[in-house]
Parts: sequence; structure tokens; C-alpha cells
Amino acid sequence: MSAVDRFEKIPNNVNLGEDRRLQRALETWQPDYIKWWMEMGPTDYQKDLIYLRTAISVEPSGWAHFDYVKMPDYRWGIFLAPPQNDSQIGFGDYAGQAVWNEIPGEFRNWLRRIIVTQGDTEPASVEQQRLLGHTAPSLYDLRNLFQVNVEEGRHLWAMVYLLHRFFGRDGREEAEELLARRSGNPDKPRILGAFNQPIENWLDFYMFTMFTDRDGKYQLLALSESGFDPLARTTKFMLTEEAHHMFVGETGIQRVVQRSCELMKQDPNEDARAQGGIDLKTIQKYINLWYSLSADLFGGEISTNAANYFGASLKGRSQETSYSDHQVKSGSYDMFVIEDNKLVQKDVPLRNAMNEILRDSYIEDCQRACDRWNKVIEQADLHFRLTIPSRRFNRHIGIYSDFQFTPEGELISKEEWERRKDEWLPSEADRAYVNSLMKPVSEIGKIANWQAPPIRGINQNPFEFEYVKFQ
Ligand SMILES: [Fe+2]
Ligand SMILES: [Fe+2]
Repeated sequence: MSAVDRFEKIPNNVNLGEDRRLQRALETWQPDYIKWWMEMGPTDYQKDLIYLRTAISVEPSGWAHFDYVKMPDYRWGIFLAPPQNDSQIGFGDYAGQAVWNEIPGEFRNWLRRIIVTQGDTEPASVEQQRLLGHTAPSLYDLRNLFQVNVEEGRHLWAMVYLLHRFFGRDGREEAEELLARRSGNPDKPRILGAFNQPIENWLDFYMFTMFTDRDGKYQLLALSESGFDPLARTTKFMLTEEAHHMFVGETGIQRVVQRSCELMKQDPNEDARAQGGIDLKTIQKYINLWYSLSADLFGGEISTNAANYFGASLKGRSQETSYSDHQVKSGSYDMFVIEDNKLVQKDVPLRNAMNEILRDSYIEDCQRACDRWNKVIEQADLHFRLTIPSRRFNRHIGIYSDFQFTPEGELISKEEWERRKDEWLPSEADRAYVNSLMKPVSEIGKIANWQAPPIRGINQNPFEFEYVKFQ
């Protein structure tokens, strides 16, 4: 592991300077990346000074450096977590063998697909969020948005490094494609559904970072177990940064909930909207939407791809060491399928249920956050409770996608769905209302009426801090 020079053209701890060909390839890609950033990254604010953290090492004690940076000058680097001591594959058919430091030829295509799919989500989310700076509820939130954006940019770098380093020419072509696809563009869309959805307001943004970035967390956890060690080590370090993105989402929603409760208390009819806030019912609809879009990202419930990736020791489960059987050659998973228009229980071979097992860990994590939001409502002495909908609700991928379900998971007819879907998902009117609240607040220490300030600021600074210096 080499030391890190953060003033290098491409800061890294992978000895880039010793591999001239690779260095040249990445330095050729770099201006294309910057061009993409200027075209598709945050609109405006590129000349302003943003109080950002930059990854400068992989030491848990001091991996980040905070300072004012203009976004195009951000040091997007390549960092791999240190190799594990035992360096043994932890699961699948190759469990117990030494980890791979080069691509195993027979799994080359699967690995490329895994890396490209992960890589594609990173620039996609930056594109989805590019207009949000103009309506940020506070300087603190504006800074958090840009922090998430630059780090998603770095995650793209992390995947592009793997493509350039290990896949030769087709890897370089894939790296160019990652800059060519566009979120929401019907001709050249991003690969996964949720990454083509519009994020048009800050409630969408908090939901996205809560639910969609959290899907990312579980994908990264599964990949950080990979037998292909460079992938395991790069995703391990990405998780360090990802934690902040999910913090932005979870606490962002918690603050909206808190503000909603305060405004309900101020209103004779407990009507948060009458006081210019976002009512809890609308928050619930946004949860239903973004939770279900993100649940789709785990893929089909019964999946041969997932079984293949697990068998090939490429993609494990979250916290693989917490399981006792790492081969999973037998055993089954009990799930609900639809037969003759009825929900019935069915046993599926465990390896084919790997997506569902990962989704289970995700759902548990989402429920934990939801319980915290409900504590806020409970403390305000209000009766409303937020819920995480059933895994069957509003799905577009997998065995439930051809059917309609209530948020409680009950099978219903298409007609009933059409009649009632505005009760469960944001309607045009809800969207118009939430969008109408989105007015920027850019004075130090001030915040929009629909949002509550955070308990503390960034890097031990208070909320009342100049997180963005407009130039
Ligand atoms: Fe990311
Ligand atoms: Fe993220």
C-alpha cells in the first residue's frame, strides 16, 4: 500500500505512478470526466467555495480533510481499503481459497457487468440532483448536497479504475459509456429504474439518500465480500463515504417530520399544510414511492444471476461472517409467490433467493429508521405513525411486478389500484404542493419554514456556519 499524495493529478493509494499505461489511460479519461461534471453536475455553484470533505487516506482515524473547495477543483482520488490479513475468499464455491488479485477469466463478463451496473448509479444520481442547489432550505443542506455529489463522482472513479486496470480495451469503452448515458433520457437511459426517476424537490432528495443510497449500501456490503479482492477493497472504502449520504437522508426526513409536528401543534386543526409545512400523510406517500423504487434495485426474488454470482464467490451477503454456512448448497427460503391469483407460500433454494436475503437486511435497516421518525411524532404527542410499506407494494421488477398490492401487502385488482393509488403515492397535486414550498434560503443560520435545523453541523461546526461562500 503506497502513501497518498493528495496533490498528485489523480490522488491514489494504488501506486498509479508505477503503471504508466494505466496512469495515461486514466489521465485521458479525466478531462472527459470534468467535461461531464460541468455539463451534468450541479448547475451553477461551480465557482463558489464549498466546505467539503475530501478523502485523503484510508486510515479510519483521519481519512478525511475538510476545507473550502470549488467543486471542479475537488480531488477525486482512487482509494482501496488495506488488504485483509487472512486474504481468503469468504463464501461460495471458492470459499477458503486465496482471494483473486486478477480477474478469473471464466467470470470476466459477470464481473464487468457487476462493476458497470454499480458504476452507472454514481453519475446517474449526480444528474438527477443537478437542479436542487437552487432550492436548498439552508446553507447546511446545500453543502450536504454537494458533498454527496462530489463523492458519487469519486465512486465513479473507483469503478472506472477497476475497468481500466483489469478489463483492457472493453473496460475503457465501458468507462466512456458511463459518461455517455444520461439519467431519464429515453434514448440513452441509465441502467437501473430508480436512477432515471426525477428528483425534483428536497423531499425527493432526502428520500433518495435515505432509501436509494441505502440500497447502494447493501450492494456495496455484498460486493465488499467479493473474492475479487480489488473490488472488495474499493467498495469497503466507498462504504465509509456512503454512511454520510444515508445520514443526510435519514436525518433530513427526521427533521421534516419534526417540523411537520411543530406546525401541526401551532394549527387549530393540526394541519401542517395550513402552516406552510409538509403534512405527515404526504411524507408517507413519498416514503411509499422511494422505498418501493429502491426495493426494485435488489432485483428479482428468485434469481439465477444472484445464485451464479454467489456460487462464483463474486457477490456475497451483507455481513457474510455473521452466517454459519458460507457455501449454501442446501437449504431453502420461504417466500410468498402468486399462484392462481392468490398469495401462497413457496420454498425457494437459498442460493436463488440471494437478492431476497439482501433485501431482508435492507428492510430491517429501513424499519429501524422509521421507528426513529415515529419517536419524534410520539414525543410530540400526535397519533399518526409512519410505516415502511410491504415489499410487494408498487413493484416494477420481480414476481410481484405484474400484480397490484396495498401498502399492507394485500393483493388487489387493477381497478382498485387505479382508484386508490393517489392515496398511497404522491399525486400530481401533492407534487405541485411540495414543489411550491421549494424556495432557497441562503442566509447563514436560517432555514426554510418546512424544515427543522439539524442538532449539530458538519465537522464540529455549528448549524450557523458559512458552509458555502458565494463568489
Ligand atoms: Fe456512491
Ligand atoms: Fe451515495
